[in-house]
Amino acid sequence: MDTLIDSMKVLHATNFAFYLKMHFFHWNVTGPNFPQYHEFFGDLYEEIHGAVDDIAEHIRSIEGYAPGSLQRFKDLSLVEDQLEVIPAHEMFTQALMDNNTVIIALKNAYKLANDHDEVGLSNYLQDRIDAHKKHGWMIRSTGMLGMAISMAAPSTST
Ligand SMILES: [Fe+2]
Repeated sequence: MDTLIDSMKVLHATNFAFYLKMHFFHWNVTGPNFPQYHEFFGDLYEEIHGAVDDIAEHIRSIEGYAPGSLQRFKDLSLVEDQLEVIPAHEMFTQALMDNNTVIIALKNAYKLANDHDEVGLSNYLQDRIDAHKKHGWMIRSTGMLGMAISMAAPSTST
C-alpha cells in the first residue's frame, strides 16, 4: 500500500503545481486576444483546482496523510515551478507539456490502485485521466502552441 500512497502524494503535488501554474497564467497572460486567453486559463485552473480536495481525501481513505505545504509540494511535484512570466504561446505550450505530466502521474497511481484492488480509487483516477485528455485536446486546439509542437501533429485526415 505504501507505493500506492506515495504515488498519490506525487499526484497530489503534481496536480496542485499544475493548478497553481494555470492560475498564474490566468493572471499574467497578455496578447491581442487577452479576454479569451484569460478565460481559457481561468476555466482550466478552476477544473484542476476542483480535483485538489478529492485527491487529498483519497489519500486519507487509503490511510495516508495528505501533503499540504509548499515545500512538500515542491519536493514531490513532477511539474516544475513557474517563476517567470512568459509569452502567451509559450504558456499554452507549457500547459500542454504539464498536462501530459499530470496524465503520467495519474496513470502511475492508476496502475498501483489496480494492483491493490482499490476499485473506487481506480475509477476516480480513470475519470481524471479522461478530464486531462480533454484538457489536452482543448489546449492543442487553440492554435497557440509553439511551432515545433504544432508541426508534430500526426495527421489531419478525418
Ligand atoms: Fe480571475
